[in-house]
Amino acid sequence: MDDLQTIRAETLAAIGAAGDLRALDAVRVAALGKSGRVTGQMKTLGGMAPDQRKEFGALINTLKGEIEGALSARKVELDRAALSARLENERIDVSLPARPERVGHIHPLSQTMDEVCAVFGEMGFVWAEGPDVEDDWHNFESLNFPPDHPARQMQDTFFLPPRADGMPMVLRTHTSPVQARTLLDPATQKMLKAGGSLRVIVPGRTYRVDSDQTHSPMFHQVEGLVIDRVTHMGHLKGCLTDFCRAFFEIDDLPLRFRPSYFPFTEPSAEVDIGCSWKGGELRIGAGDSWLEILGCGMVHPNVLANCGVDPNEFQGFAFGMGIERIAMLKYGIPDLRTFYESDLRWLRHYGFNPLDVPSLTGGLGR
Ligand code: DAH
Repeated sequence: MDDLQTIRAETLAAIGAAGDLRALDAVRVAALGKSGRVTGQMKTLGGMAPDQRKEFGALINTLKGEIEGALSARKVELDRAALSARLENERIDVSLPARPERVGHIHPLSQTMDEVCAVFGEMGFVWAEGPDVEDDWHNFESLNFPPDHPARQMQDTFFLPPRADGMPMVLRTHTSPVQARTLLDPATQKMLKAGGSLRVIVPGRTYRVDSDQTHSPMFHQVEGLVIDRVTHMGHLKGCLTDFCRAFFEIDDLPLRFRPSYFPFTEPSAEVDIGCSWKGGELRIGAGDSWLEILGCGMVHPNVLANCGVDPNEFQGFAFGMGIERIAMLKYGIPDLRTFYESDLRWLRHYGFNPLDVPSLTGGLGR
């Protein structure tokens, strides 16, 4: 009897003292395992008289139940403690600033495209895109390029094997084919017929057989297209003046619209922005020099007709500019080739904070 009391007291104390699940299991084995103390007591039952065996057996069973209950209660306690310890250790402080060296940077080309889209977005333009691998019809023919136009020749264009139907394929030499793709879209035609106006902005990659300090075989352009029944050259001037002033963040930036030629516009113009080269340093804004930054014009009636839009009813303007060029001018990046070198030091210097939201007042204003 005494012995059962001792086993009970010692085992229950050991259960209470077990600091983890392993220690608790050791207590279980020491009491209830094959050679445990309680099991040892059970083994003595065989040599007892029936009456004694009945009484003693009942006591051992009670003790066994008590120990099992204490074991599982302690297990629940230990599990709960282990969970709270884990929650405590694994807690992350979301208010801690990220380590600066771990933050990546937005490439200046991506930033510039985002800024251009943000400015035109404010004016109601929507984003559109087209394929880099383009067919000759969209890249040239639809845009009113004369058959012998130099842009079609080998030295300018990357030609690809023709399509199954014989159509010559190229890497698009400009984003202008997306003008044709957008105009031909049945949704556009339906919208125009219903009295709506089309305003799209198309940033994307373009390709030409050209490689030197200021030309790369792959570069980026952004195209714009506005079509409705009333848009005229005055709107073109206003829109592009507003854009240039917002993009370069100079409210009185002087602009010059210089007559030019593009097959897909008539009349056509190139836009120059004012600048000065005082002390050999380029400053954008008032000055006595001009820098060309984009091409534009009223969409040629042939382009509209080629794309199933009646030129007697609809008109509008288009423009296109090189992203690298305006990024270099805005951010003072001297060498075009560095855009594609993936030099981390360059990217840390010229790159942008990924958490910044490009806006009308983004960029330089940071
Ligand atoms: N596609 C022309 C180029 O790559 C740029 C351009 C000029 C686009 C005038 C236009 C435009 O939409 O109207 O040189």
